[in-house]
Amino acid sequence: MKYCIVTYGCQMNLHESEKIAGVLRGEGYTEAGEIGEADIIVFNTCCIRENAENHAFGNIGALKKLKREKKGLLIAVGGCMAQERGKAELLRKKFPFVDIVFGTHNLNELASLIERKRKERKAVVSLKEERGETEDGIVPVRTSYPNAWVNITYGCNNFCSYCIVPYVRGRERSRGAEQILEEVRGLVKEGYGEITLLGQNVNSYRDGDVAFPELLERVARIEGNFRVRFMTSHPKDFSAELVRVMKENPKICRHLHLPVQSGNNRILALMNRRYTREKYLEEIALLKREIPDCEVTTDLIVAFPTETEEEFCDTLSLVKEADLSSAFTFIYSPREGTKAAQMEGRIPEDIAKDRIMRLVEAVNANTREKSAKYAGKTVEILCEDYDGKKGLYLGRDQYGRMGYFASGTDMIGKFVKLVIKEANGISLYGEIAE
Ligand code: SAH
Ligand code: SF4
Ligand code: F3S
Repeated sequence: MKYCIVTYGCQMNLHESEKIAGVLRGEGYTEAGEIGEADIIVFNTCCIRENAENHAFGNIGALKKLKREKKGLLIAVGGCMAQERGKAELLRKKFPFVDIVFGTHNLNELASLIERKRKERKAVVSLKEERGETEDGIVPVRTSYPNAWVNITYGCNNFCSYCIVPYVRGRERSRGAEQILEEVRGLVKEGYGEITLLGQNVNSYRDGDVAFPELLERVARIEGNFRVRFMTSHPKDFSAELVRVMKENPKICRHLHLPVQSGNNRILALMNRRYTREKYLEEIALLKREIPDCEVTTDLIVAFPTETEEEFCDTLSLVKEADLSSAFTFIYSPREGTKAAQMEGRIPEDIAKDRIMRLVEAVNANTREKSAKYAGKTVEILCEDYDGKKGLYLGRDQYGRMGYFASGTDMIGKFVKLVIKEANGISLYGEIAE
């Protein structure tokens, strides 16, 4: 019996899919080479923006034929979209051939849901409101060696006005520090070269007296040859203590993903982000003063309701002023049930598209400019994959840039020093240093 998991969305979801794979392995399934071979297909969905949902809807719909042809094939839909208000019913109505719908709070029930479905004719739907750490017992089938994702928090309490995550992932919960450290020690022993601590807002982690900087420091002090990343950080919870920990612990990558969303204070207030442009710039200044080579990346949203051209230009100018190395850029997408979805002043699509194009151009220009400085330098990358098309190995340096190089032997999982010959956007091309 074979499984196939189709994943949408963020790292959190990618890691969750590794846990779904863990549950399925426990039930005797092995991974299918391709979707047509699978006896169970699981969609792990995302609903952060409308196009993420449309994607999933399209691909689930496309399975109708396969389902008709293959007797006994099970189709399960889980993740954030399944958990969204009213979406489970819509899924059932649109795709009556879906067998199992499960939310974000009942991963550990998946095995029993499959069992139930095998006995019942009708679809099995299980959506819980909230969970404890119910997935902690699941051993994930990791797919991203040499990187390993480790949850430190689940859910989110911030309720940024545009965002659906708090509604579909529930309230913020921190995992026990000892449990996290134990997991990381095990992963390092197994040979993982990169540990990424995951949470919607890692900076608000707390287990008793242990806040995020202390947890990070304790992780970074575990013995072994590995490096540490973490995401995502929220500017409102950024602290000097975090900077100190990053500075004093060389295992922590000199890279901070610090989503700012907008460069304009009126829009930031409407977004309920609870910081200002000035505070964000102060944080970056502190970080660069203490760790001059630290790279900062961000997330940006354009065309939030009522955003004027002038206000958009504040976001545009922030890219340079905050010296951002790269950014994920998004057009605002109204999400039902969120505060912003009820706001007046929607921005017409043509204006939104124009703004995002100008923003992408500004971000790319900055990325290129910063990358060009790499030519001739030596960087250390952790080799993570082989690109068959290019015929090159690839991996990221601690700053988050992708380095490509040729090698006659398998380099995956190794730390490699590269002399950079050419920089192209965020990608660097180099040769192994002697
Ligand atoms: N917890 C993280 C990331 C959450 S989702 C954080 O707070 O930064 C990743 C990104 O998607 C967000 O940073 C935001 O830029 C974007 N995003 C979230 N909701 C959105 C929406 N309704 N429309 C467009 N972009 C959105
Ligand atoms: Fe969404 Fe804001 Fe929470 Fe990030 S911090 S997940 S953007 S509500
Ligand atoms: Fe992630 Fe999408 Fe859910 S971004 S938390 S998978 S809504």
